Amino acid sequence: MARRELHITPIRTIQGTLRVPGDKSISHRYMMLGAIARGRTRVAHLAPGADVAATIACMRRLGVHIDTNGAGTAEVRGAGRQGLAAPSQPLDAANSGTTMRLLSGIVAGHPFRSQIIGDESLSRRPMRRVIDPLTAMGASVQSQDGRAPLVIQGGHLHAITWTTPVPSAQIKSAVLLAGLHAEGKTTVNEAVATRDHSERALGAFGVEIGVADRSCSVVGGQELVAPADLLTVPGDPSSAAVWACTAAAFSQSAVELENVCLNPLRLGFVPALRRMGAKVEMTTTAEVAGESVGTIRVSHEANQATTIGGDEVPSLIDELPVLAARAALGGQLQVTGANELRVKESDRITALVTGFRALGVNAEELPDGFVIDGSKRPTGGRADAVGDHRLVMAFALVGLGATGPTLIDGAEAVGVSYPSFESDLSEIVR
Ligand code: S3P
Repeated sequence: MARRELHITPIRTIQGTLRVPGDKSISHRYMMLGAIARGRTRVAHLAPGADVAATIACMRRLGVHIDTNGAGTAEVRGAGRQGLAAPSQPLDAANSGTTMRLLSGIVAGHPFRSQIIGDESLSRRPMRRVIDPLTAMGASVQSQDGRAPLVIQGGHLHAITWTTPVPSAQIKSAVLLAGLHAEGKTTVNEAVATRDHSERALGAFGVEIGVADRSCSVVGGQELVAPADLLTVPGDPSSAAVWACTAAAFSQSAVELENVCLNPLRLGFVPALRRMGAKVEMTTTAEVAGESVGTIRVSHEANQATTIGGDEVPSLIDELPVLAARAALGGQLQVTGANELRVKESDRITALVTGFRALGVNAEELPDGFVIDGSKRPTGGRADAVGDHRLVMAFALVGLGATGPTLIDGAEAVGVSYPSFESDLSEIVR
């Protein structure tokens, strides 16, 4: 991707109604499950970013026919549970951790050798967390000292009971997907509940899945069946959170976000924003394939200090950068127990604090989080998003509330999850 700068000029407020793009996590899952299901899976409002495009490209390399029309709809001709073909070229997960980890679970259950590669950022991220359980199930996984490229020789797997070493829906999902191909009942236990889109999506594909408090299990050998109805992906709460945080930061602002996925395990940013002084209302309007969908309305009321600790982190992990930006425009935020931020698309603790300081924010790095003091208005300036989409949007929000202009380097990364970010921004700036 060619490097691109984003110029942000300060605004007064935002107002209006938006429909954000389809959820990235759910889109990956529908494409992958559709590929190993029987029948044709039809999906609408797919996440438009580069991450889900990488998943689609990988599934095609595994011999699955997927028609996309460029307007967010796709039809996947399922190959069946053991129907994927040995790939003749590497599977390129690009910048997408979800693609690499979930796909590892799927190919581990197939009797062929495949290689999964990623971009520079993904090649730095820890993969031992999926290598260990897949190896315990009987797959052979070679890596570069726990990092990509991964070379996986799959085949006959046996079930395991696995406790995830860190709260991670990607690990949980990789083990469950491998468990579909394993003999016996595979169980995943986690210390803190993480997003359960895989469990809900598996249910929509007819898989019987046992779900208890912080534990889920699947018996191997079950066939997935393409849902008869069109699957419409709900709006991405992580993209909605950008505008929720923006509205919360500016007086006179009010934003209505329609058709958003209201899965409670994704909505940790809502109580956090309320504690920081926002008014947030949510209305459920529909239930689609086991996921609640509805409207989120946010307006600014006050600037207050709050803290976020480890138990809350999995429910707002991807939203921490924009929550930090909201705090930089008034109030204070201390985040701890968020070590996982260091192994996302970038080290989101160091890169966030460095970028915020470059924009005149009073920000301090902690080993497992950060402290943001929003008592003084940021100046704006020049910040490097280091190829991380969530940082582009967080820096943009800081810039919107700064006293002077802001320039964000590496802004092309926003296309990973939210290609229409700039045009959506221009719709609601007042
Ligand atoms: C995701 C899970 C989270 C999240 C990522 C998407 C998923 O990662 O940060 O953006 O789709 O399962 P971890 O589960 O590794 O924390």
